[in-house]
Amino acid sequence: MVPHMYRVLSRRQDLADTVTLALAPIDGQIATPSIGQFNMLWAFGIGEAPISLAGVDDDVVTHTIRGVGAVTNALCAASEGDQIGVRGPYGTGWDLDGAMGRDILVVAGGLGLAPVRPIVTRLFARRADYGRAALLMGARDPESLLYRDELEAWRSRLDIEVEVTVDSAQRSWRGDVGVVTRLIDRAPVEAANTRAFVCGPEVMMRFCAQALVDLGVPPAEVFVSLERNMHCAVGHCGHCQLGSSFVCKDGPVLSWAEAEPLLRIRER
Ligand SMILES: Cc1cc2nc3c(=O)[nH]c(=O)nc-3n(C[C@H](O)[C@H](O)[C@H](O)COP(=O)(O)OP(=O)(O)OC[C@H]3O[C@@H](n4cnc5c(N)ncnc54)[C@H](O)[C@@H]3O)c2cc1C
Ligand code: FES
Repeated sequence: MVPHMYRVLSRRQDLADTVTLALAPIDGQIATPSIGQFNMLWAFGIGEAPISLAGVDDDVVTHTIRGVGAVTNALCAASEGDQIGVRGPYGTGWDLDGAMGRDILVVAGGLGLAPVRPIVTRLFARRADYGRAALLMGARDPESLLYRDELEAWRSRLDIEVEVTVDSAQRSWRGDVGVVTRLIDRAPVEAANTRAFVCGPEVMMRFCAQALVDLGVPPAEVFVSLERNMHCAVGHCGHCQLGSSFVCKDGPVLSWAEAEPLLRIRER
């Protein structure tokens, strides 16, 4: 439960309220994370928050953070050289290795692109291991698209289909307009042989998961990443409990076959 000290190696302002921090260990380091896991980041004197891994490169961990409250605003305000506490990695990850030979569909909404970014970079690195692959990305408007430069670079490659849609845009926008679920029908994958990874606001994940199942992707092959308020992140405090599951330990990544009944319990 004791955080390791990390130093901010680089800081990039992605959007007005969102920054990406690359963190390097100072006094020992966390275990090597799997893609899809999260760390608890400490803003000293303020508190800690669960933040997904947006990248792992040797011992440097990358996190993209949106400032919404005391802890995340303090993390966003960190400068290069500042110290941040890191404990983790926690939770379940995206099982990309178990999908070798299958078609891969990644669907992201808004900040949800951060936790699925390592899937895309790993896909590019091991492209021959998988069938057809597509990234479908949705955002509120062109100005709130995360990782714009990277999206453009991914789009210019021809071995992964990258489709971007926004809810609303000026006339100068040349991409799609509409919700990301509308892109699912035309994704160039064979539904029965596809593993899908979906990350974004909960309502978006619900609609996308349902659209994927309707298309013929088995519910056990659709993976989502749930977010709940967390405190301990190790299954002790009960803050993140959904039914008999703890999102910090049994999740955050769950198949739709597991997640859908849990989300229904909450609504009763
Ligand atoms: C597994 C996991 C991974 C996450 N990954 C990221 C990430 O990569 N980048 C990122 O910016 N944020 C991520 N979050 C959300 C982040 O942890 C919260 O925004 C943060 O804890 C808010 O803390 P705060 O003190 O800044 O704000 P608070 O004052 O605690 O909260 C501000 C507002 O956000 C709401 N809120 C707090 N936590 C959550 C949550 N988990 N889900 C929905 N609403 C919440 C509160 O109800 C309140 O309205 C993740 C959360 C989880 C559980
Ligand atoms: S955050 Fe404490 S049990 Fe999950």
